[in-house]
Amino acid sequence: MAKLTEIGWEEFEALSPEAKRPYLENPDGGGLPYHTLFAQQFDRAALERLCALANRIRFINKSKEGALYLKNVLAHKRAMLYFSQPSSRTFLSHLAACQILGITTGSVRDAATSSEFKGESHEDSIRTFSSYFDMIIMRSPERGLAEKMAWELSNSERPIPILNAGSGKDQHPTQALLDIYTLVRSFENKGGIDGRTVTFCGDLMRGRTVRSLSHLLTNFRDVRQIFVAPPELQVPADVVMALAKKGVSFEVMDSLKEATKVSDAVYMTRIQDEWDQAKGESAKIDTSHFKFGAEELALLRPDAIIMHPLPRRDEIATCCDHDPRAMYWRQMRNGMWIRAALIAATFGFERTIMECGY
Ligand code: CP
Repeated sequence: MAKLTEIGWEEFEALSPEAKRPYLENPDGGGLPYHTLFAQQFDRAALERLCALANRIRFINKSKEGALYLKNVLAHKRAMLYFSQPSSRTFLSHLAACQILGITTGSVRDAATSSEFKGESHEDSIRTFSSYFDMIIMRSPERGLAEKMAWELSNSERPIPILNAGSGKDQHPTQALLDIYTLVRSFENKGGIDGRTVTFCGDLMRGRTVRSLSHLLTNFRDVRQIFVAPPELQVPADVVMALAKKGVSFEVMDSLKEATKVSDAVYMTRIQDEWDQAKGESAKIDTSHFKFGAEELALLRPDAIIMHPLPRRDEIATCCDHDPRAMYWRQMRNGMWIRAALIAATFGFERTIMECGY
């Protein structure tokens, strides 16, 4: 297995995600990652294993005895949640996942409250966290920072795993895992994800969840991806090129209504105006045709689902919230279970949990 200690940062950074993958594998994980940095690290077998582990944790946690068992599994571990960008769901679901597994947590939610404010480098901050914790779960506005920090830690005296909880406009791999888990559960006993049509709608240019999920969907057979967005916010070239390279069927469409009619899942996203280069830039874009409301709901197939990584603004009307096809609340809760699975697997406890007597 390739090791991050055997390759310089510049050489590693220049590799494709596929070529980076062996350097990030978990020696205890049989193909699962040690550092989770981008979606291309997961193949179908890994996704199926994580979904099975999430189901197992969810089931065990139902009884008090089972919950107490889980709380002991990783009671000897500590995790640092280092979020230098706002978050509700990703922060809280990782926190709750750690609590399910008995992991003690610490957090920095604002770099202004850490010594980075005094000029400490990211490298020194991360090295500091690794002195006290056994895993770092990090969100950053900087593209590629999680990768750099993973390389730094693996080349330090105290290597510990990093989970990327959102990096710039680039990747949000654990969100994509919970999205896949939601699709798997939604289409369980209905033929699964293979052969499905998934529509992405909204700010596809700057939405990191779209890039990560688009990559993960390529692990399934004959999944067609449709992209619906204002021209200024259409899906970026690298996503389209990756699909073309893999021979995955995709289409760019103007009409959310037309896309809804043929979709098994409609994945809505909000306009990510926090990335505007100039103040008010996004407000000038006409997004009125990229909202899911009562008319779209009426066109949605009876067995299709509506997804959203959340937070939302007005891109899904609240009148959709109680429709059984609205999956976004369950999707959010699924994040806790799949993140618990990922954390347990990262620490090498997949088999222990799968084979326990509960
Ligand atoms: N989906 C997601 O990343 O939500 P938060 O920004 O609230 O973590």
